[in-house]
Amino acid sequence: MTRPVASRVRDLDTPALLIDLDRMERNLAKVASYGSEHHLRVRPHTKTHKIPALARRQLELGSVGLTVAKVGEAEVMLDARPPELLVAFPVIGRSKLDRLMHVARETAVTVSLDSLFAAEQLSAAAGDHQVEVGVLAEVDVGLGRVGVAPGPALLQLAEAIHRLPHLRWDGVAFYPGQIKSLDDEGQRQIARLAELIGEMLADLRRAGFEPRIVSGGSTPTLFESHRLPGVNEIRPGTYIFNDRNTVLSGACNWHECAASILVTVVSTAKPGQIIVDGGSKTFSSDRPVTGSEVSFGRVVEAENAVFGKMNEEHGFVDVGTVNHDFGVGDRVRIIPNHVCVAVNLHECVYGIRGDDVVEVWPVAARGKLQ
Ligand SMILES: Cc1ncc(COP(=O)(O)O)c(C=O)c1O
Repeated sequence: MTRPVASRVRDLDTPALLIDLDRMERNLAKVASYGSEHHLRVRPHTKTHKIPALARRQLELGSVGLTVAKVGEAEVMLDARPPELLVAFPVIGRSKLDRLMHVARETAVTVSLDSLFAAEQLSAAAGDHQVEVGVLAEVDVGLGRVGVAPGPALLQLAEAIHRLPHLRWDGVAFYPGQIKSLDDEGQRQIARLAELIGEMLADLRRAGFEPRIVSGGSTPTLFESHRLPGVNEIRPGTYIFNDRNTVLSGACNWHECAASILVTVVSTAKPGQIIVDGGSKTFSSDRPVTGSEVSFGRVVEAENAVFGKMNEEHGFVDVGTVNHDFGVGDRVRIIPNHVCVAVNLHECVYGIRGDDVVEVWPVAARGKLQ
């Protein structure tokens, strides 16, 4: 049974993930103009919003294509009619590859990968389905997650991709996820990254490989991307909404946080504490990526409140030092630490302007883990 959706925020049932559309639109416009000013292709990562209608808006603002992590997300994002889709994750296993080849019949598909095994499987699947697939060689620039080391391992991977049939070597991809803040240490890391990319591109060129695409980007380093010579594509995801981590990284301010979770105070029985109707199943258990504080979001109505503990459905907020009396039934908005995982927990998000609910988007790619 579908429930009628309230047209006012004050009437929405909680927990509800709210998107301030004015803020979101400003975030989208800012990155679109940064990309065009610096001649950077923008291929936003849709893992943050997981909503084809929002992906469509990104494309209408000039994004060249979309990025996803999972084949299931790629299938959903076809609804946004992207001219190209990058799966920024090695796709391993025949059944996933077969599904991806069906996607490749609908739009141009590129995969970033870091092994001969993944490249050979992809080449075989592309051959069976008679499609050509673009490939980016994934390089590790310090996160230590996926990606070959720059140098001989990268050259070997590029050569292998080059020689495999049905694959088109498009260039390289990296994800500077180890850079979590724009403080002095973050700036030093960005300078080192610029050097590393310069050396990597020089090595590739000496070996006869001219990458058409050098794809990087993350939200914390987003507006520093033009300082990385040779990078011509960025794949930010979080920027559309931003979150507490983005603020803590120094990459945006609170007024640029478009997403918040509306919750209701359900208990004030313990003095100095309120319990809200959202816990780890509403916010996720992600802690801040910088600092050592254990806390799960920022209470918009009381910035000194500490959302320091969660059970699945209960959020424990310490309001001992807050100059505000909360009562049962009050509603507060909390900006989550990590919005991407929070969105994945919600069936839908509500686009709001002031107190008006003007959009309700199902989170179509939530839970698409395969
Ligand atoms: C490979 C890759 N590219 C791009 C992104 C987007 O990063 P952010 O959400 O910081 O913008 C991510 C995020 O996890 C990623 O894993």
